[in-house]
Amino acid sequence: MSVDVTPPVPAPALDTAAVKAQFPLLRRQIDGAPLHYLDSANTSQKPQCVIDAMSRFTETSYAPINRSAYRLAGEATDAYEAARGKVARFVNAAHPDELVFTKNATEALNVVAQAWGRAHLAAGDVVVLTHLEHHANVVPWHMLAAERGIELRWIPLTDDGRLDLAELPRLLDGAKVLSFSAMSNVLGTLTPVTELCAAAHAAGALAVVDACQYVPHNATDVQAWGADFAAFSSHKMCGPSGIGALWGRPELLEATPPFLGGGNMIADVRLDGFTAAPVPAKFEAGTPAITEAIGFGAAADFMTGLGMDAVRAHEIELTQYALDTLAARFGDDIVIHGPASTAERGGVLSFAFRDLHPHDVSQVLDQRNVCIRAGHHCAKPLMRLLGAAATARASFYVYNDRNDVDALAEALDGASDIFGF
Ligand SMILES: Cc1ncc(COP(=O)(O)O)c(C=O)c1O
Repeated sequence: MSVDVTPPVPAPALDTAAVKAQFPLLRRQIDGAPLHYLDSANTSQKPQCVIDAMSRFTETSYAPINRSAYRLAGEATDAYEAARGKVARFVNAAHPDELVFTKNATEALNVVAQAWGRAHLAAGDVVVLTHLEHHANVVPWHMLAAERGIELRWIPLTDDGRLDLAELPRLLDGAKVLSFSAMSNVLGTLTPVTELCAAAHAAGALAVVDACQYVPHNATDVQAWGADFAAFSSHKMCGPSGIGALWGRPELLEATPPFLGGGNMIADVRLDGFTAAPVPAKFEAGTPAITEAIGFGAAADFMTGLGMDAVRAHEIELTQYALDTLAARFGDDIVIHGPASTAERGGVLSFAFRDLHPHDVSQVLDQRNVCIRAGHHCAKPLMRLLGAAATARASFYVYNDRNDVDALAEALDGASDIFGF
């Protein structure tokens, strides 16, 4: 199986300096020196246009949605629904109503496991996951397994951190669900989404894609994938936190009971029960993150404006530069986990540096304003496989350039000095 993300034609280059200039926070200095923000796999920075869209909406159009009859409320409802349309288009959903706003990708995956799963899975049913999943695509299934007695099976990894699909037919045999990440937040591994969806369907299983790391960095087409559900978050794609999305095939969303009950998600409530509202309101109980939805829509516009093929091409170039720079400078003293080829990985570099603890590495790098993540990255099963409690992780995005990679390498050299290597 092969991954299907490399742009088919050379994409126009991203003007990183011009892009970076749109992010106010990146103009900030600490101790008189610039910041090198290399933690975008964790959460991304926000461009002025997203900040402005949210401020403008708050200043001019903020009101409840779906409830009140006055014009201002209608305007707010229209803006909220327009944002849904933008985000839906961004992943090529066939219709805006296939896109449910959730709190984040975690909630989106919980809707699938807890609401769809509870309604459709019973004791002995099989759900297949992979060893590289984020806890958001593990724990909800564990919860369901404990409650319902479903069986979890795991697709293993190759030594270089790709999915080992040799046993896929056996693992999928009799399965009801294959739920997997399109891109690992630890290894950067890109998985063969289209082929995995096809394999799931051939086995009679649903294909659930955790697209949280994929959508911000690659052109996404949920229809071309042939997926059944896909989950992602706004905050990793230059939008605000507090909002994410679950895309689902209409008939599956229809067949999924509500996840939370309350206002906004009902068509009728009686003393003897309730009738749920149509999709997507059925899954948006209570007052939603209205202003954040506007920001999410603005982020989709911003990313579309950059061009997702250009974004991917930029990250391939920068990741290759980082791999080459770190290998040339530190040789065997640095171990970078995950696939060697940038065709099979995104801009996420998890590494072990000499025998320094990742938290020490992160702290020393912070002295030079290089922001990286150190920890288990919410992927403890994968950490156990790597034989590490934690890794240091640098991750790249549209505002990073070679200067940031050079600063990372310099700061690692500094860590060697401090710890006496
Ligand atoms: C692969 C993956 N899935 C799911 C999530 C959960 O995203 P959120 O915290 O926005 O719900 C993350 C967050 O890091 C992630 O990297």
